Amino acid sequence: MSFHLVEPCTPRLHRSELAVPGSSPKFFEKAASSEADVIFLDLEDAVAPDLKEEARKNIVQAIGDIDWGNKTLCVRINGLDTHYMYRDVIDVIEQGSDRLDMIMIPKVGTAADVYAVDMLVTQCEDAAGKTKRLGFSHIIETALGMANIDAIAGASKRNEALHFGVADYAASTKARTTNIGGANPDYVVMTDPDDAGNRNAHWGDMWHYALSRMVVAARAHGLRPIDGPFGDFSDPDAYRAAAKRAAILGCEGKWAIHPSQVALANEVMSPPDAEVEKARRVLDAMAQATKEGKGAVSLDGRLIDIASIRQAEALVAKADEIAARQ
Ligand code: GLV
Ligand code: MG
Repeated sequence: MSFHLVEPCTPRLHRSELAVPGSSPKFFEKAASSEADVIFLDLEDAVAPDLKEEARKNIVQAIGDIDWGNKTLCVRINGLDTHYMYRDVIDVIEQGSDRLDMIMIPKVGTAADVYAVDMLVTQCEDAAGKTKRLGFSHIIETALGMANIDAIAGASKRNEALHFGVADYAASTKARTTNIGGANPDYVVMTDPDDAGNRNAHWGDMWHYALSRMVVAARAHGLRPIDGPFGDFSDPDAYRAAAKRAAILGCEGKWAIHPSQVALANEVMSPPDAEVEKARRVLDAMAQATKEGKGAVSLDGRLIDIASIRQAEALVAKADEIAARQ
């Protein structure tokens, strides 16, 4: 390990994050009784400009009035390039109840963006006499944000999660797609021709770099990496595939832009029983090895060592966290 210790952020279960437009209060109760681990009430892109003020009022009221159970409650404010943002922060903190847990900052581009919001949030909390400190989620969804991702990840003690906002990221990088996440049939490699001259096109994941880069920045700063939206809510198989590849890379959760995606995210982002069982066996085997003064042993014909303990501990800790929630 480095001498530099990575401090973990406030721990929260974050397998699914359900997006709910602030301009549609009729969906709030349903969201509150869903199985989502985290809910974000949106003031940004799901709300038309004419409805921003009304959405803000709806959210301020709903934070205190609705029973959100044991969910993490978050509000996505508008971007720093808009004139809505300062009032979003002020009203939500000064008028909303202490039930709010986090603020989500969209299109964050530099560490200075985080600093600016931190300053405003801190002033509002102090002026309102609040002792609970709101956590920050940042959406990495611009080329600038990706270029500055490490500085953003380390820019505030409030930071808890980085999210990959694939739709805006595609727009910002001018990627040639209009999908929200998912695979692209033009992002392929061709196999060499076989003896009969046949070739196959293998689909790749055009978001692989961005997602991996975000996972590294998040983990290097003790934050949770969360995969963003998948637009085609009528295709659960493709959602599952997208969520799985994010989970395999180290993401802890994925957005649900439709209630039907919550169960899919919870399912994929919970370690499978067989993997947890195996992790427990790794821990038992390594405990025995340590007693015998060994740093590595074999289990089921494979080498395991002290690094295996860290992998297994992470899996078992996640399973225990999920069991505690249930
Ligand atoms: C989320 O905000 C996205 O742009 O994908
Ligand atoms: Mg976006």
